[in-house]
Amino acid sequence: MFANLCAKQNISTNCRMKHPETLAIRTQTAQSQNREHSVPLYVTSSFTFESAEQGRALFADEEEGNIYSRYSNPNTSEFIEKMCLLEKAEDGFAFATGMGAVFASLAALLRSGDHIISSRAVFGSTHQLFTKILPSWGINCSYFDAAHLELVDSLITSQTKVMFVETPSNPGLELVDLGFLRGLCVRHNLVLIVDNCFATPVFQTPADFGADLIVHSATKYLDGQGRVLGGIVVGRADLIASIRFFARHTGGALSSFNAWILSKSLETLAIRMERHASNALELAGRLQKHESVESVKYPFLTDHPQYELARKQMKAGGGIVTFIIKGGFNAAFSFMDNLQMISKSANLGDTRSIVTHPASTTHSKLSEFERCQVGIEPGSLRISVGLEHIDDIFNDIEFALEKVANLTRSKDAISG
Ligand SMILES: Cc1ncc(COP(=O)(O)O)c(C=O)c1O
Repeated sequence: MFANLCAKQNISTNCRMKHPETLAIRTQTAQSQNREHSVPLYVTSSFTFESAEQGRALFADEEEGNIYSRYSNPNTSEFIEKMCLLEKAEDGFAFATGMGAVFASLAALLRSGDHIISSRAVFGSTHQLFTKILPSWGINCSYFDAAHLELVDSLITSQTKVMFVETPSNPGLELVDLGFLRGLCVRHNLVLIVDNCFATPVFQTPADFGADLIVHSATKYLDGQGRVLGGIVVGRADLIASIRFFARHTGGALSSFNAWILSKSLETLAIRMERHASNALELAGRLQKHESVESVKYPFLTDHPQYELARKQMKAGGGIVTFIIKGGFNAAFSFMDNLQMISKSANLGDTRSIVTHPASTTHSKLSEFERCQVGIEPGSLRISVGLEHIDDIFNDIEFALEKVANLTRSKDAISG
């Protein structure tokens, strides 16, 4: 696989580069006559043809090359190539946002009357897509619980075409057993799509477990510095061909500037993820011992209900820790307002630690019952653990937890 991709990218197949993190650093698909060491930014809407005949051949797909940046651009191509190497995928297409990638992947492959099966715990906008937007076009979705995969088979009908999963899920950090689902997908001829946003290819390569397509919000760890929006789908070449056709003619392409940023960011993805994960594991352990914390969720904590699966599927637990604060909604809000360093934002995967209250923001469009089903409580808080020193992160959290505890104590004293 890597040898093929190396050949495609004019990287010598005799090269001794074997590891994805090296290829993410060393892959460069374009260089001008100036021989710059860092790939140039191609800010151009279109490309010129050497001749009228070449224009015809490019449009007829008889020749490979850039035509128009809605179709392809050297910067987006480089970002795609790197992601294919990291995800062990054959091909890909990059989008303006993660939701653009999720939507186009489904819209390109499904027709009115088709049916999707998805793990219940998915990102808020993906849930809106499954329950509000696609049904109005005659495409319906059935959810299953990751803890009861034995029931999935019974949901599959002759109309089912796609199995969609997010693992680990946002924000509940629920895992889905990809190997198990792959068996079902093969038996029923379903396309398995995995949203790999939380783990990133550094910690999980769904292609190893038979995923057909892997989608990402590049806005998160792939950028990793909270600068640009982006999305990508990579996977089986035949499926990507359909997605590319859909995307080219519906116009969700990633901009060259954002692609340039993202391609550069991939050079540091592995090293950033290692620090995100070591900070997150340490924070999760410390939170578990705190008296103001009801419960903590992190895939690599031994008491995570799917710890064994996490060890099987992932190399590390990722950079997100979710916990439930004692005192519910009011305590969660008070905790957030007492943080002095950690940012309050809806984003994640930044160098800077971020706290989010999913029930009132990213998952506010779900009903209370739906939130409860995916483990989001009024007191749930999602920490995107950044790259700051772990002691500074924990001290900020500890300070805010103490403030909330003191407030509760004084209220109790007044009412008592
Ligand atoms: C798991 C997951 N998938 C998809 C998305 C959508 O990505 P974007 O915001 O880039 O459209 C997000 C965004 O938070 C996400 O967390």
